[in-house]
Parts: sequence; structure tokens; C-alpha cells
Amino acid sequence: MIAIKAVDAWEILDSRGRPTIAATLVLDDGTTGTVSVPSGASTGQAEAKELRDGDRRFRGLSCQRAINHIRGPIAAALIHETFETQDQLDAWLLQLDGTPDKSRLGANALLAISLGFARAAAAYHHLELFEYFASLLPDVSPRLPAMTINLFSGGKHASGQVAIQDVLIVPSSTSSIADGLAQMYDIYQEAAAILHRRYQAPALTADEGGLAPPFKKSAQMLETAAEAIRAAGYELGQQVRLAVDLAASHFVTSAGLYQLDQETLSPEALIDTVGSWARHYPIVSIEDGLSEDDWAHWPALRRKLGDWSLTLADDLTCTNPTRIERAIDTGAANALLLKVNQIGTLTEAKQAYLLARSAGWRVSVSARSGETEDNWLADLAVGWAGDFIKVGSITQSERLAKYNRLLQIEHTHPLLGK
Ligand code: PGA
Ligand code: ZN
Repeated sequence: MIAIKAVDAWEILDSRGRPTIAATLVLDDGTTGTVSVPSGASTGQAEAKELRDGDRRFRGLSCQRAINHIRGPIAAALIHETFETQDQLDAWLLQLDGTPDKSRLGANALLAISLGFARAAAAYHHLELFEYFASLLPDVSPRLPAMTINLFSGGKHASGQVAIQDVLIVPSSTSSIADGLAQMYDIYQEAAAILHRRYQAPALTADEGGLAPPFKKSAQMLETAAEAIRAAGYELGQQVRLAVDLAASHFVTSAGLYQLDQETLSPEALIDTVGSWARHYPIVSIEDGLSEDDWAHWPALRRKLGDWSLTLADDLTCTNPTRIERAIDTGAANALLLKVNQIGTLTEAKQAYLLARSAGWRVSVSARSGETEDNWLADLAVGWAGDFIKVGSITQSERLAKYNRLLQIEHTHPLLGK
């Protein structure tokens, strides 16, 4: 039985300099759990609502109201409550909020408590955080994920110079985390050198640390990634593969067409384009290849990708069990991008995860573009045996906090494997 003695929260800044929330839970025996919550930019419409103040402070992005909810009504109701499990705590939070989208207390406030409880409970039970996360699932053995590491950025994470959002490098699942990061370093350096030669400009990075050169067309991101891989001495399809996040919700037109750079494409034409990329390059996964509302065409995208690439849903499903169920029923996807803050509590993220697994889907555990130096995401990916982890590039400490935690887990638990 876990009893909560004190709760505190305060404003911190995320990797884009925007406010977010840190919180500490103190248990009766003095055990503490401190966490911070991430925040997206390329957000799906169906995401749980993070509360922002909308006043002059931080140009509307301030989180004082959500923080006051934690310090006020949540703390008042939580202190001296006891909980046996994470499920109980999260169900209690949902009831206290009482809205379907967490807009009353704020999804950012609820997530801070849900995760803070997890970290405190792990310490209370003398478990590593990833072991605690694994204990929440009925039947899973912790495992190191394959990494999908951002090389090039466009769309909302850069200046929108090209439509698609991410081209990522996926070191082979047989390489260790340590070797995969070393390969990525080689490729990143080669890519930066190519861009310097081609554009005579220093390598500018985007929100998640990816390179964001003035490409003219999205396809150049893929071509240049292949070039950098070759220059680094690797063979695409052998030691490394690619992954793509189109984030197509952000370049769909009001008429349901897609503004892919200079071209306006029908959904069918975009599916053909993406399908030919998948065949030309070994692409492990195509994320949000169509927009979040284009339910009519997602099944055709999945059929087109077949066994070449996973059809990975992010904005489409928003880690929301109801939307995942619809995607399963309609054959819209076969892989889930899991972002806990899209839904608001760990238990709901667990339901999303279990639903996806029940349909045989792959799972990629993902960070947000606005991240903090907290590393709980690495433990979640390991504890829930995610097939992939998506954290961003290898250049900024809020990303490296997660990679460095994976390195620590790999080092201290060499038998975990992949
Ligand atoms: P976001 O983007 O965190 O800005 O929403 C990440 C993604 O689209 O995968
Ligand atoms: Zn995405």
C-alpha cells in the first residue's frame, strides 16, 4: 500500500525554451519521485489537452494553472490517500478531472502525477524504473529497443523547407545500443559534411537535433541520407536502414489533398510516392503517411506498404484506445507510435499498448519535440519491450538523456538483449 505524504510542482523549461511541468511526490516513508513532462509541436487533434495559460507570460504558453491544480486540488485530495497500484492512482486521477480530454485539470498536470507516482513506487519497491514499468503489464520481459534516430528534419520541426518531418536512421536490431550510436555518429558527421559542401552553410539543427538544410524536395532527404550512409562506409539495408515520419496531417489541404513540397497530390498519388520510397530504400516504418482524418485512405496505404515497411500511426491514433480500435478494425495501420502525454496517464497508455499488441502491431515508444532532461522514456521503452524507441537526434542533451540511460541499462543489464 503506497501512501502519499506531499506533492509539489513547479515550472521548468523544455528543450525549445517553453514552459512545462516538473513535479515531486513524497511517500509516507520519505521515498520521493521527481519527473518532468514533455510537450509536442506537431500535435494530433485527438490528443489529451495540456493546459496553457493563454496570457501574456511566455506568450500564452505558461503552465501556472496546471501547476496550481497540482499544488491545490490534486494535492489536497491526494495527500493521505493510499493506492495499491498504478491503475488505482490513474483511475483516481481521471475521476478527479472528470473530462474525456483532461482539459479541466490539464493532461500535463495529470501526467506529472502519474509518472511521479511511478518513479516513487519503483523506488519504494526497490525496482529499477524499467522493471516497475514492466510490472504494469501482464506478460512482458524487458528488452532494449531498436533505435530510430533523427538525421534530417523538415515540416513543423524545422522551418517547413520541405513537407515531411523526419528521416531517421535505424541501426540494425542486432547491433548494441553503444554500436548503433557510434554508427549514427559517423553518418551524422558525413551528412553534415555533405551539406556543408552542397549549401556552403553550417549544419543547422531543428527541434529534435536533426539537420535541417535548405532541401528543395522531401525526396532529397532520403537521397542524401543514403549518400551519408554510403560515405560513412555502411550499406543501406545491411548495418542500417531508414525510417520516415511524414507527419502528413501538417501538409494536407482543406480539400483533402497533400501539398508535398511544390506538388499537390491526391491521397492515391501520395500513397504511390510513399510506396515507391519504401521499395527503393529499405524503410523500416512510414509514420503518418496520410493525415489524421484521412481514415478512408489509410487501409490502402497499409496495403501498398505490405511487408516492405510498417504503417506506423502517430497523429492518426494519438495513443488513444478508441482510435486504435478503429485503426485495427479498418486495417489502417500495423504499428503504434506510443506517446504517453498524448493520452495523459500511464494506465491509459498501457491500454493503448495492450490493444495494439493484441492485434499483432509493433510499438515504437516516442519522445516529443519539446523534451526535458528527464530520462523516464528510456525505461518505458525497455520495460514495455518496445520494438523501437524514437527520441530525436544525437546532438542535444534532452535527447541524449534517453540514449545515455539506454547505454546505462545495456551496461548494467547485459543479459537484457533485444
Ligand atoms: P511532436 O512530434 O512531438 O512535435 O508532436 C513528434 C512526432 O511527430 O513524432
Ligand atoms: Zn509523428
